[in-house]
Amino acid sequence: MNQKKGQWGSNFGFLMAAIGSAVGLGNIWGFSYKMGKAGGFAFLLIYLIIVVFVGYVIMVSELALGRSAGKGVVHAYRAIGKRYTWIGMMGALSPFLILAFYSVLGGYCLRYAAGNIGDLLGLPFGTGGAGAMGAEAASAASNDFFFRFVADQPSAIGYHLLFIGLTILIVVGGVSKGIESFSKVAMPALFIMLCITIVRSVTLPGAAEGLRFMFQPDFRAFQGTGWISVLAIAGGQAFFSLSLGMGIMVTYGSYLSKNENLERSALIIPIADTVVAIMAGLAVMPAVFALGMEPDSGPMLLFVTLQAVFSSMGTIGPLFGFLFYTLVFIAAITSSISILEAVVSPWMDWTEEKYGTERVSRKKATLIVGGGALLLGCIVAADGLGTTGIFQPLGFCWLDFFDLLSEGFMMPLGSMMTAVLLGWLIGPERVINEVEIGSEFRTKRFYIFCLRFVTPFVMLLVLIGQIDQFFHLGIF
Ligand code: PHE
Repeated sequence: MNQKKGQWGSNFGFLMAAIGSAVGLGNIWGFSYKMGKAGGFAFLLIYLIIVVFVGYVIMVSELALGRSAGKGVVHAYRAIGKRYTWIGMMGALSPFLILAFYSVLGGYCLRYAAGNIGDLLGLPFGTGGAGAMGAEAASAASNDFFFRFVADQPSAIGYHLLFIGLTILIVVGGVSKGIESFSKVAMPALFIMLCITIVRSVTLPGAAEGLRFMFQPDFRAFQGTGWISVLAIAGGQAFFSLSLGMGIMVTYGSYLSKNENLERSALIIPIADTVVAIMAGLAVMPAVFALGMEPDSGPMLLFVTLQAVFSSMGTIGPLFGFLFYTLVFIAAITSSISILEAVVSPWMDWTEEKYGTERVSRKKATLIVGGGALLLGCIVAADGLGTTGIFQPLGFCWLDFFDLLSEGFMMPLGSMMTAVLLGWLIGPERVINEVEIGSEFRTKRFYIFCLRFVTPFVMLLVLIGQIDQFFHLGIF
């Protein structure tokens, strides 16, 4: 017989795990590079508005749906009505696809942490750029290292296996003993490392330029229809960063006890996630400007640009590089465990329904689901961001393809449907009653208003914006 699926040991532990899920590559990488591309302050402003009016609303909804059903995402939506099961199914499929590429990127972080150790100690697996003279030489070395690594299939696959192996190991440990215990140590450690990196970054000569880029009001990006595209980019980013629309918060909510204050948690998680995103911006932008690099290199920012920053910092550079990439790795793994758990959990529910107490064990479910994502991830790793010439679906590199299906399509669609469902079709009572079990629902009226009139509209724009971006349709 298999025991209960799991429950959080403490509210602090739950918060660390949920914040750990939210804080990930999205904060440190996506947030910085999208801010770099979408106009600095203009992006920041829209991002904050979306977190408050849309992110918070879906956060409350997902946590409450999970806790009221006591089940993973598929059964939580089915509990509302059989015809809504498909929304839950998307909520299980999309994290599975995300895990396939997320773990490859997590593997890249490990490679970079190792590379900086190599530079520090003069070992052969360094990045080769240490001590480079000037921004140009450092950029060239960093570019070269990155493209050699991603195209080197055995090593990209090897680091991917290492990363996903660690993820599986933690999730096999269970909700409280695995996920919660790990997050309780990892998240405070990440916070301290981030503070150290910020101090270094903002004290570099010339750092003020980066601060100005982030915080000086500048609305040029809003011109014409620009504001819609900023809205769509910021909306997509906010949802990915808050781990919404992919069954994660439903799953984590299902392990919460009835006497926890849901409303408070739903406030704390987005605030912490946003604070860390801004802190990550403070760690990245001033350094990028101080060392004469450009902030708009897009996805290359995290690896190519930042490694060049570390290489051109002198002897102390590799040490900060190591610290920084280890921090990114921690952020990534506390997210990837939540992504895996969101798929393992509904599977355990499903077998429980069929076989009762003889349902699949956590270990077996995790190994099978994790194993599937591991194999899918090997394709992404072997593809090397489209550099190695293997078959590519619809002309996308595999990473973009999986990202398009999950983050681009299922995430906004699922969130929009959740808002329509709770706002209009079945009404918000299910969520309200659940929140009110533990405490008074202070933001109830705000919640209902946004759920009905703001969230569906914004999510529709995000959906169109994502598709527009992926297919370069030029709608906005
Ligand atoms: N929120 C995580 C990040 O910012 C990524 C994530 C996406 C986690 C989807 C869970 C689900 O990187």
